[in-house]
Amino acid sequence: SLEFTKKHWLKQIGRVAFRSPDTRFNNWMTWVNFQPMLRRFYGNSFLPQFDYGRGGRGWRDLWQDRLAQLLSDPESVRPALVHNFGGVRIDGSNATIIGKDGTFIADRNNIPRTWMDHGIWPTHTALMYIDQTGDIDFLLQEREYFRDPQTFRCRRLDRGWTESYGYALRTHKKAVYRGTILEHMLVQNLTAFFNVGEHNVCRMEGADWNDGLDMAEHRGESVAFTAFYAWNLMRLADIVCALACHGHKRFYIAEELGLLLDRLPGGKPVAYTSARAKTQRLGRYIERVAGDVSGRKIGVSVEDLAGDLVDKYCDLAARVRKQEWVRAGASAFFNGYYDDHGARVEGRRGRDLRMTLTGQVFPLMAGIANDEQVDRVVKSVNQYLRDPKFGGLRLNTDFGSIQPALGRAFSFAYGEKENGAVFSHMVIMYAYALYLRRRAAAGREAWHTLYEKAVDSGTSKIFPCLPEYFNGEGRGMYCYLTGSASWLVYLLLTQVYGLRGDLGDLVIDPQLMPADFDAAGRAGVKTDFAGRTLAVTYVNPEALKPEQYIVGRIACRGVPVPFERKRTGGVRVDRAQLKALSVTDVPLEVELVSKQAG
Ligand code: G1P
Repeated sequence: SLEFTKKHWLKQIGRVAFRSPDTRFNNWMTWVNFQPMLRRFYGNSFLPQFDYGRGGRGWRDLWQDRLAQLLSDPESVRPALVHNFGGVRIDGSNATIIGKDGTFIADRNNIPRTWMDHGIWPTHTALMYIDQTGDIDFLLQEREYFRDPQTFRCRRLDRGWTESYGYALRTHKKAVYRGTILEHMLVQNLTAFFNVGEHNVCRMEGADWNDGLDMAEHRGESVAFTAFYAWNLMRLADIVCALACHGHKRFYIAEELGLLLDRLPGGKPVAYTSARAKTQRLGRYIERVAGDVSGRKIGVSVEDLAGDLVDKYCDLAARVRKQEWVRAGASAFFNGYYDDHGARVEGRRGRDLRMTLTGQVFPLMAGIANDEQVDRVVKSVNQYLRDPKFGGLRLNTDFGSIQPALGRAFSFAYGEKENGAVFSHMVIMYAYALYLRRRAAAGREAWHTLYEKAVDSGTSKIFPCLPEYFNGEGRGMYCYLTGSASWLVYLLLTQVYGLRGDLGDLVIDPQLMPADFDAAGRAGVKTDFAGRTLAVTYVNPEALKPEQYIVGRIACRGVPVPFERKRTGGVRVDRAQLKALSVTDVPLEVELVSKQAG
């Protein structure tokens, strides 16, 4: 039994494996692979010393933890994703906890509120699922909506609601209403688009990814997550176009949602420059869906739907790029927030310079920052957020005092938790954004420093793992309980080692730095894809940098594998080709050659 158990776990943690010249790193990553599994099994309460979590799973963590699972075992994820979409409410808010038995709960402590970032994660994870598996029809599967007494995005209580209504949204005729997964994603992203504050960016509501920014629900705005919503809107436009290529040229969505798809023919377009006009429209929608829905659906063509979404992306992206770009002396970076007085949070404030890492990450990740802005952000981050003593990038600069108009995060001592710690999750998302923007050197420095800090056990005082954060004394805190492990696996596999899906096809697009290769110029990665176990060896004998090399040749046991070059970088290998192989273990040798030669 012991042998069986050992074998089982070694297999689980070895499903995704990295072969860098640093064997300590390779081993450390097997522990990091294990972390998302622990959190999946035990929820946010794995070890007794944790001061929060009762075993439930929080909404955003639930979705992000699936990222790692999607990479090691994509096919097994579908039922869970479909199930979890049932936690979305028709007003765009959602159940925040999913209990052990899979039931949805408005809130663990009965203080329902709406976290404004919650709507972004399902789309992010679902799109990745489709990329890894090619299962695009997943979007058209129907699912119920969550309905409880909370209405108006948790601002009102429907006293008429009773348990006998049940926890599924119904039509006026009291039949359970179902909409496609795509419709659920539209509900979440469209409501966010219209839910703006006075600066015409998305309202903070209860808080965003940073749980500690919880005191700006009236006038607060999160520019950071506005950028993410913009990215989602653009990606949704892309995916509906991809659906059209699969023969689905018309979609059926809840009639009420037509109010938020204001650019459809015959619709009443909202002036996007007016925050008031947007919130009025959202108000009308929320009013309409506050009880039941009509159950009627309207047909929408691909072109019209994609056009509407792109218009919305353009509106948000342009605003973030221009309005939120702040200069402070010779430095420049993005403002990430407005506080409850409606005041801009970041930039120079008297003698202080206020800046958050979160505010920088998402405009970069979403492709909203232009190239010059990316470079200036990297410079400012290094200048203001680097921990001078222990290394690593902090979540924010020292604001110097509590911030009752922003949130309780600032009541932690500076360097602790969400107030300026080196918070692994955000650092990895920053690195991820940098790789997306082809800044591999800066990206590597960001995540590699976390690894160096973690394994320096004299200072970090932890066993092998990626902790939630490193405090002001360089100590690793909250081992195992953290979404950052999932994100690190995701970052390394899909960006650094560059193996990822694209609507089911395999993309090979490494951005490994010379230091990631051994003396013979080789680096390796193992992962499951399309039902095959791929063991990829990259060969870079000339120690070229990512901006200097391209994939020159791919071979499987000496036989060349055909590929197509992608416009955005990297190459694509047809899924059908991998599926057609008679063996399940597929060694691939990928030669990296100089761009000029290629
Ligand atoms: C934790 C929470 C997560 C929250 C984050 C920042 O993150 O689990 O929901 O977004 O703090 O407040 P984690 O430890 O997973 O990195």
